[in-house]
Amino acid sequence: PRLSEILSLHDFEAVARQVMPEKAWAYYSSAADDEITQRENHAAFHRIWFRPRILRDVTKVDWSTTILGHKSSMPVYITATALGKLGHPDGELNLTRAATRHGIIQMIPTLASCSFDEIVDAAEPGQVLFFQLYVNKDRSITKRIVQHSEARGIKGLFITVDAPQLGRREKDMRQKFEADDPSEVSKAKQGNVDRTQGAARAISSFIDPSLNWADLEWFRSITKMPLILKGVQCWEDALEAYDRGLNGVVLSNHGGRQLDFARSGIEVLVEVAAKLKKKRGVTLPIDTFQVFVDGGVRRATDVIKAVALGATAVGIGRPFLYAYSSYGAEGIDKALQILHDEFEMNMRLLGSRTIREIVPDMVDTSNIHMH
Ligand code: FNR
Repeated sequence: PRLSEILSLHDFEAVARQVMPEKAWAYYSSAADDEITQRENHAAFHRIWFRPRILRDVTKVDWSTTILGHKSSMPVYITATALGKLGHPDGELNLTRAATRHGIIQMIPTLASCSFDEIVDAAEPGQVLFFQLYVNKDRSITKRIVQHSEARGIKGLFITVDAPQLGRREKDMRQKFEADDPSEVSKAKQGNVDRTQGAARAISSFIDPSLNWADLEWFRSITKMPLILKGVQCWEDALEAYDRGLNGVVLSNHGGRQLDFARSGIEVLVEVAAKLKKKRGVTLPIDTFQVFVDGGVRRATDVIKAVALGATAVGIGRPFLYAYSSYGAEGIDKALQILHDEFEMNMRLLGSRTIREIVPDMVDTSNIHMH
């Protein structure tokens, strides 16, 4: 279909499945085991309903916000997804350029196909970038990567904590990861790889499963960047991060690619917001500890639900990959334009003129089970 026929973020997935090379589709679309968590990620949003307000003057609505102190044209950022060149020769640069054009933030993955510096160089001056970190068993490598990213102006370090071992993504494992693959991460980064079990496993063998809470003090000692844990999945760990002075958490199950039957981030947000209030006396959103959600976000209404429940912003992954793999850079422009259009209409219909006016009373979460 022509790009003009694309009406929603879901449409990109349907097109991508038809037009993407099999190996790329397998890597991007796959999730762990039976992919139940991946399916649940979007479905969980369907259990939350709106309580809109009427008769407010909604001529002007504004969905811009600030994320870790930086302006963003919407409460959405491009989350880190590895191997950007599997879907398109320009790889992650598609995302960088779109982020610049649309005033949103991109999180650069450790396992990008393009080199880190290539991506940073492609950003316009003033463009805000975050960095997603996989922690290497060799901490001198991690230290070098972290300090280099800070020197290059990265504004937030998102340490992935849900992947001490990569999940089994069987669609991907059925494909072999070839040595001369042009999309391979720069220098496969971290040593020898096993190419017999798909892309994900080939590139991830350097990740340190010994990572633990005590290591976080070391991170604080080597960088001044805000530190955010990506992949928190229950209120206990979110409060631990809060107590230890971290700057935020991403409630995420890695797009369903890690532990199957992990709950969706939006569901975890409900309990995290409640427990922060009850046990620590703080009401989200707060500047000093920002809570993010990712997984299954496909509509502005999904984003609005997360914001109502106290999230600062949400991450979107696969839809942008599908958009540029199918239509190149224009595809991501279209995806972001769709989101902007959806924000405008839905904020009017909800009776919220600004992000601050999207409040908890506007959502009914009684179908969400709280642990
Ligand atoms: C990811 N994700 C991810 N996360 C991370 O911390 N490091 C990584 O290298 C990757 N790589 C990656 C590759 C691909 C192809 C996907 C789809 C996802 C997880 C990602 O940051 C995010 O948690 C999910 O993608 C969010 O779910 P949706 O928006 O894809 O449904």
